[in-house]
Amino acid sequence: MKKVLVVGSLNMDFDVYMERRPQGGETVMAQSLKLVPGGKGANQAYALGKLGVDTSMIGAVGKDTFGQQMLDNLHSVQVDTAGIRTSENCETGKAFIEIEDSGQNSISVIAGANHDLDAAYIAERQDMFAAADAVVMQLEVPMSVVVAAAKQAKACGKLVVVDPAPACADFPEELFPLIDITKPNETELSILTGLPTDTEEQVLTAARTLTAKGVGAVMVTLGSKGTLLVTGEDVHKFPAYKVKAVDTTAAGDCFLAAFLSQFDGENYAEAIDFGARASAVAVTRCGAQSSIPTRAEIDAFHG
Ligand code: RIB
Repeated sequence: MKKVLVVGSLNMDFDVYMERRPQGGETVMAQSLKLVPGGKGANQAYALGKLGVDTSMIGAVGKDTFGQQMLDNLHSVQVDTAGIRTSENCETGKAFIEIEDSGQNSISVIAGANHDLDAAYIAERQDMFAAADAVVMQLEVPMSVVVAAAKQAKACGKLVVVDPAPACADFPEELFPLIDITKPNETELSILTGLPTDTEEQVLTAARTLTAKGVGAVMVTLGSKGTLLVTGEDVHKFPAYKVKAVDTTAAGDCFLAAFLSQFDGENYAEAIDFGARASAVAVTRCGAQSSIPTRAEIDAFHG
């Protein structure tokens, strides 16, 4: 994809590193706190920009220092931020992330300005949709915005990519036939479809319910078990790369952006492998946007 428009969230991440995450009612001692630019939309835009893709973003930040830091980080990789509005009423979104030594995390998000977007603003930005080859969305902005953006992108004949994260059970049915590519992990796929995804057979059955509803391609990321691609009748499995993870934050965002940076509409195998290598490098580093590798680093990584 030569030119990508990202419609999505921007959050300042508060990353707390600890040996293990506390159970309910338990207190644990943590090791450190880092503030890192994040948000699923901004992470994807940042990664696309860093990989040399002409990228623009629609979103919202607050009139505060975090908002400015988010914009500055996107500018550092040449992302066009003209579509990111500054909310008068809301603070920049924030995410509180607990990361344990295994690299696994738990995330709580305060939407803030991310929820100060509406369908009318999407309509005002029609020019940005017309200029893009692909439009990418996630679910940290209001669902009405995702639906309006998907409709606008489809009407302009663009590739419509929806990352269904954070997962929601009441995904609007009208959205499915608008989606060319979606990238759930097993948990998101289960929530989205209401079906179990504990075995590979169950994952396939659940993914097929999405293609039956009109989704073009379902790429299910299975962590260390790789990626399952379901398109119509075709099913392909792609391996993951084995690395020692220190922080899995934004691994999925990095995968999707790297995939899109290589994708020409048909070369799924090549683009998924590039995404898998990119996310393998990202999980060996701390933070969201701070973990995104360069193209040279991805090219040099072979597992
Ligand atoms: O996908 C990772 C992102 O999820 C974090 O950067 C955090 O902001 C949340 O949106």
